[in-house]
Amino acid sequence: MKEIVLNKFQEIYGDAAGAKVFFAPGRVNLIGEHTDYNGGHVFPCALTIGTYAAARVRSDRKLRFFSMNFENKGVIETSLDELVPSKEADWTNYPKGVMWAFEQRGMKIPAGMDILLNGNIHNGSGLSSSASVEVLTGAMLREFFGLSVTNQDLALIGQYSENQFNGVNCGIMDQFAIAMGKKDNAIFLDTADLSYEYAPLVLKGAKIVIACSNKKRGLGDSKYNERRSECETALAELQEKVKINSLGDLDEAGFEKYQSAIQSEVCRKRARHAVYENRRTIRAVEALKKGDIEAFGQLMNDSHRSLRDDYEVTGTELDTLVEEAWKVEGVIGSRMTGAGFGGCTVSIVKDESIERFMEQVGSAYLKKIGYAADFYAVEIGDGPRVL
Ligand code: GLA
Repeated sequence: MKEIVLNKFQEIYGDAAGAKVFFAPGRVNLIGEHTDYNGGHVFPCALTIGTYAAARVRSDRKLRFFSMNFENKGVIETSLDELVPSKEADWTNYPKGVMWAFEQRGMKIPAGMDILLNGNIHNGSGLSSSASVEVLTGAMLREFFGLSVTNQDLALIGQYSENQFNGVNCGIMDQFAIAMGKKDNAIFLDTADLSYEYAPLVLKGAKIVIACSNKKRGLGDSKYNERRSECETALAELQEKVKINSLGDLDEAGFEKYQSAIQSEVCRKRARHAVYENRRTIRAVEALKKGDIEAFGQLMNDSHRSLRDDYEVTGTELDTLVEEAWKVEGVIGSRMTGAGFGGCTVSIVKDESIERFMEQVGSAYLKKIGYAADFYAVEIGDGPRVL
């Protein structure tokens, strides 16, 4: 891949003098969905697939971007003096947003850059291609300009840029999972205080399989921000009755005791998901630590039901992938992952069942939905790095 991006860099920008190659992973969340903006726990991991970049520093303030995933858009040019979001800037709003966010934090970017990207995760598939680009950009800026930021800072800067520059009110999970990724480990993160712990993912003869629904979606135009504000309404109403900072402060019994404080049935359902999902995540990690992968899988299934019935972010495509997966022998657990409304599912499947899983779920999906899903078994990898 290093050679591929350097060759393309040379083709696009004339020569590759001074170019370095970088990588940042994509991520998949195993359990703990829509809890990260509710002060709850998440349990994601970084993947060995992600985004590659070749980049170099220029002597002026110009920025040139090219993506091998959007070749038809050609070279998109701008400058460090124009770090404002725009429709024409298209995907480059992500790297530009990170540059803007560094400057907001008082770290001036001293010179322009030529940047070429090539991702091997599907864009918009739900494996966080955008957060991958954000963390990757941060890693490039750090390397080239000697900025003293930790990987955790890269996550926070990435999230800030996504919230403030790109207008998506996302939580910290994606950028954190990517920036802090560790081979063969998932990250048990408490989003209330960013304390975290690595948990080795020992799957004993099983693998993580991603099924991509290929339903087009963008977080910005999804109902993500609406869910977030429904949770905020529920929290404000609960706070009239009980002293909590976030929905993550409640356990199941606490929720049942105070839920009548929430006025609308819709907001009550959203809050119920946030509370129960958080507790499920804690229990799932405990089960994994005990080596009880079956219990972990059951909790993944419960997570999907709650996202389907209470949080209502699944939709026919994701429900079909998951409900078909549940029918296949050798599937330990299956659920939607990421924001929902499209994107992908994550399943833990026994090695000997993977082929059958892909065939069976794939053909049922095609028959019902009318277009194909993509499947891939994935590995857990490290965070961002210079190659
Ligand atoms: C998206 C957001 C995350 C998180 C998930 C849902 O991926 O970027 O912050 O909220 O949705 O768990």
